[in-house]
Amino acid sequence: MAQAAFHFPRGFLWGTATASHQVEGSNTNNNWWAWENEPGRILNGQKAGLACDWWSGRWREDFDRAADAGQNAHRMSIEWSRIQPRPGIWDESALDRYRDIVRGMVERGMTPLITLHHFSDPLWLVEQGGWENEAVAERFETYARKVVEALKEYVTLWATINEPNVYAVMGYIVGNFPPGKTSINAGLNVMTNMVLAHARAYRAIHAIQPQARVGLALNVTPMIPAKSWSPLDRVAVSVLRRVYNEFFPAALSAGKLRYPTHTRRIPEAKNTQDYFGMNYYTRFACAVDLRMPRQKFIRYAPENCDEISETGFIGNDPAGFYAALEWAKSFGLPIIVTENGVEDSNDNLRPRYLVQHIHQLWRAVNIGIPIKGYFHWTLVDNFEWERGWSQRFGLWELDVETQARRKRPSADLYAEICQENGLSSEMVARYTPQLFEQIFPN
Ligand code: GAL
Repeated sequence: MAQAAFHFPRGFLWGTATASHQVEGSNTNNNWWAWENEPGRILNGQKAGLACDWWSGRWREDFDRAADAGQNAHRMSIEWSRIQPRPGIWDESALDRYRDIVRGMVERGMTPLITLHHFSDPLWLVEQGGWENEAVAERFETYARKVVEALKEYVTLWATINEPNVYAVMGYIVGNFPPGKTSINAGLNVMTNMVLAHARAYRAIHAIQPQARVGLALNVTPMIPAKSWSPLDRVAVSVLRRVYNEFFPAALSAGKLRYPTHTRRIPEAKNTQDYFGMNYYTRFACAVDLRMPRQKFIRYAPENCDEISETGFIGNDPAGFYAALEWAKSFGLPIIVTENGVEDSNDNLRPRYLVQHIHQLWRAVNIGIPIKGYFHWTLVDNFEWERGWSQRFGLWELDVETQARRKRPSADLYAEICQENGLSSEMVARYTPQLFEQIFPN
């Protein structure tokens, strides 16, 4: 068999992504801890608990795994409630601990990408109105300064906020995340405050560290009308695209807040991204459905893709990934894929998902889209928010009771991709023979 390979540019970042509340354990001072303690909020009443036990030191063994598997980068987040446990109180020992963790990453040859906010908020912030209170922008800036001062020796790549669109929609419009509100106005208000907070943090980080590269990680979900002939579905999709996918990049590039009904200028947010961070998992077909008042009468689900993940959450839709990358290119920034992956406890689908998505990533690089890195979600199974432990996204499986890790076959596949800086015909033949003809046609 002839050998062929799709190679990536030299210096391409290959890593995995994690988030503080999902891996650290013992986070008892944030909104998710409180949410987990309310009956009925998390599937099967599960809790993050010890999570992957990183806070007591297991980050070391997991970083060893990542580095041994050829990863040259890692994306993780800082827990605001640890750094600032109460208003005006800063915990220097928590900052020291994060400095150790990030140094440990660098010592293992991995470039850190540090997220400042990944869904979890300090309880005191929530008491002061959280992200609905415009004052959050100044508070977030102060917190960002503190973290950047502490970690600047090791970190130049920053993401201010993870998935501000998911945070606002899930927490304030659909109500599955804390604080469980169901108001479109509240959601749009939170989105606006997130733009303001991002813009302030962007400038603050650059003032401390001129060479910093600052962005955010946006969840990009391409959407298509479930019934292409339905005018209602088509209108719904155009509004959803505008609010969900386009609101943040439009604000951060053109300085415009494009609400469903009107546009407002926000000059201070203009040009406040040095790269476009994209989290892509799936494409959705969307329909207007009067039986779904909780979702504001919108039904959305992966559809028309060959395979759907275990719990129906994610469709294996690599063409959607390519489409998302092409769309992101129009913002004229380097792109980093800050998350991509699939829940799959038995690793049945993941090898195909991985191969097909890396193939599309390479196609996008090959037509000149400036993609600089790829972070797989995730390293070790972790606490998946309102879905608890029911979804397994890890390259390594976690036994939550014993904290034992067990490697899934995809961990070896991804290691080969990272080490080769590309995807070879030999890998495809070995891990996903059924895709060989599709990816390497004669
Ligand atoms: C993203 C989120 C991650 C992770 C992932 C898989 O929306 O940023 O924290 O939960 O989805 O569900």
